[in-house]
Amino acid sequence: MKKQCVLVSGGAGYIGSHTAVELIGAGFDVVIVDNLSNSDRNAVEGVRRITGVEVPFVEADCCDRAAFRKVFEQYEFDSVIHFAASKAVGESVLEPMKYYRNNLTSFMNVIDLMREFGRQNIVFSSSCTVYGEPEKQPVTERTPRKPAESPYGNTKTMCEDILRDSLKAYDGLKGIALRYFNPIGAHPSALIGELPRGVPQNLIPYITQTAAGIRECLSVFGDDYPTPDGSCIRDYIDVVDLARAHVAAIRRMIDGKNKEKYEIFNIGTGRGVSVLELVHRFEEANGVKINYKIVGRRAGDIIAIWADPTLANTELGWKAERSLDETLRAAWAWEKHLRNL
Ligand code: UFG
Repeated sequence: MKKQCVLVSGGAGYIGSHTAVELIGAGFDVVIVDNLSNSDRNAVEGVRRITGVEVPFVEADCCDRAAFRKVFEQYEFDSVIHFAASKAVGESVLEPMKYYRNNLTSFMNVIDLMREFGRQNIVFSSSCTVYGEPEKQPVTERTPRKPAESPYGNTKTMCEDILRDSLKAYDGLKGIALRYFNPIGAHPSALIGELPRGVPQNLIPYITQTAAGIRECLSVFGDDYPTPDGSCIRDYIDVVDLARAHVAAIRRMIDGKNKEKYEIFNIGTGRGVSVLELVHRFEEANGVKINYKIVGRRAGDIIAIWADPTLANTELGWKAERSLDETLRAAWAWEKHLRNL
């Protein structure tokens, strides 16, 4: 039987590279397209080293329709996983047009080209950011979406809508939006992981860089929230588990098991962990001390959110498997690999 091929846009990025590895492990061919605007060619090398497969890589911007069309002309994939997007919440507030242009144009190009070339299955990287500050925990896929807090978040909501409307209108196309909670960790080989540029905005890279001595002190943004220890609560999902959810989503569509043309799944563990808990778990799991101080709240932070992943468990046949300690050890191993520690 001919191997199924998947185009991974943004495949040199954090989640994209891990997904490429899992797809190959599950028997798929993969083509990576990435403009390297916030990613690194070494991630593609990492994917090749882990899998032993010379994965094709095209350096192209999905917003550049002509360049992107060439990828469709050259490769015969039936499915696309679309990661390529800008993702810094704070930057999106300062440069909204960059976010709308990048994230919407690239996604609309994907859909147009899939139609033009008769490609069938699309997975879109969405985010739990679409739920805003939820009234009830945990959130299910039926929890109402709220107006986005940032242009970045708004692009996720808008792309979900573009996908929903396109799938309704166009035959031959089906799609799944995966709403990620907070992806953390790295591949157990420590050959790929998260590569933040400059000062990390997210919690785990800040913790690992503090442990490595690159940052002096972690600022914990607020300990006066209405949570048990006063710090914010999130659902931290291992990036390898998250990558596997994409494989399950692609399989579901290829096997014709999807119940609707457009489906949505929460991808989280179902477990809420506070910032302070995470810091202490990291210290215990890795036997290192994290220098931290409590500072004021960060503007725009959600107090608490965690997933009800039941639908993904039952329908996708996917479940988060890695323990938080394993994930935190992998995050630290990756940081040490990067810094030659
Ligand atoms: N935090 C700190 N100190 C830091 C960094 C983060 O205390 O130096 C805290 C934040 O205040 C928050 C928690 O750690 O309470 C997690 O923060 P992250 O920045 O790691 O993640 P967010 O939940 O803010 O954002 C993430 C993704 C977004 C996505 C959002 C959806 O980065 O892309 O989840 O909720 F939109």
